Amino acid sequence: MESQILEHKNNFLSALKGVSDNAALEALRVEYLGKKGYVSAMMQSLRGLSGEEKKAAGQLINTLKNELDTAIRAFSENLERAKLDKLVASAREYDVSLPGSGSYGSLHPVTLVQREVEEIFVSMGFSVEEYPELTDDFNCFEALNIPAHHPARDMQDTYYLSNGQLLKTHTSAAQNAIMRKYGAPLRAIFPGRCFRNESIDACHENTFFQMEGIMIDEDISISNLIYFMKTMLSEVFQRDIKVRLRPGFFPFVEPGFELDISCLICNGEGCPSCKDSGWLELCPCGMIHPRVLEMGGIDTARYTGFAFGLGLTRLAMMRYGIKDIRDFNSGNLKVLSQFKS
Ligand code: PHE
Repeated sequence: MESQILEHKNNFLSALKGVSDNAALEALRVEYLGKKGYVSAMMQSLRGLSGEEKKAAGQLINTLKNELDTAIRAFSENLERAKLDKLVASAREYDVSLPGSGSYGSLHPVTLVQREVEEIFVSMGFSVEEYPELTDDFNCFEALNIPAHHPARDMQDTYYLSNGQLLKTHTSAAQNAIMRKYGAPLRAIFPGRCFRNESIDACHENTFFQMEGIMIDEDISISNLIYFMKTMLSEVFQRDIKVRLRPGFFPFVEPGFELDISCLICNGEGCPSCKDSGWLELCPCGMIHPRVLEMGGIDTARYTGFAFGLGLTRLAMMRYGIKDIRDFNSGNLKVLSQFKS
């Protein structure tokens, strides 16, 4: 019996060396420790033995059983550990900074237009600034020459928070902070998401993107404003864009304008898209009101500046011929996946 046990043990150990996965380990376990395995067969063969012999041999077989069991467990743990090590090693090899090989989605049309406009303004010496979506009454209104009870506040239905803060209704809310941060001279653009309590239809959304720009320096005039807007828009639309200014009222600019561009469909000839006028309304703008400059800590005896509030969502609609503004926030992949670059 002893030699039989030893033989089984040696055979088992050499078979174990060849095991490389859990399935092979389980097969080996069944072969030795299963109901019809060697160990159980040996136990059964004890039946014919006398009491003492039976006890001694039984103990030996039990010891073998325990040894095999322990060896199998240890081996199984090693297999798991090796699997994990392999995983960790491959994760280490994985360079997260490498570009992906597949195409996983696409950039949002507003992001595409935003990046395009940013690039153009950066090439003209503007910096790109960030500003939070959550702000307060001072930055969104007071600092822009819109005092409490001023009728201009009716122009925007604002989402107020119970703590007195509000969701910014326009990117102009960042003007004061940026003037205070950098002082003059200053060239900055600040894109951002804005919120107004609008009822939604094909042309109106309660959440939309704007790109504000300000330029403050000595001798800044309306012609600078026209030049920068014309250059930027001609680049975005890849053709010579004509611009014109009409008077517009905003308390934070004086004079204030609505900037129109020559119609993109008919090039100014007149068509249904521009209601036969040849012009499309694009962007409010103006010369920054001296009070706004003052509140931003700018010396108004020396500096003047212009500001514009480009509707990025509207620009994206024009750029890509998107007819319904609701498509932007719909998350509709049929719409968005068309913008794979
Ligand atoms: N903030 C204004 C709006 O959202 C737009 C604007 C910006 C007008 C800068 C003039 C100058 O309606």
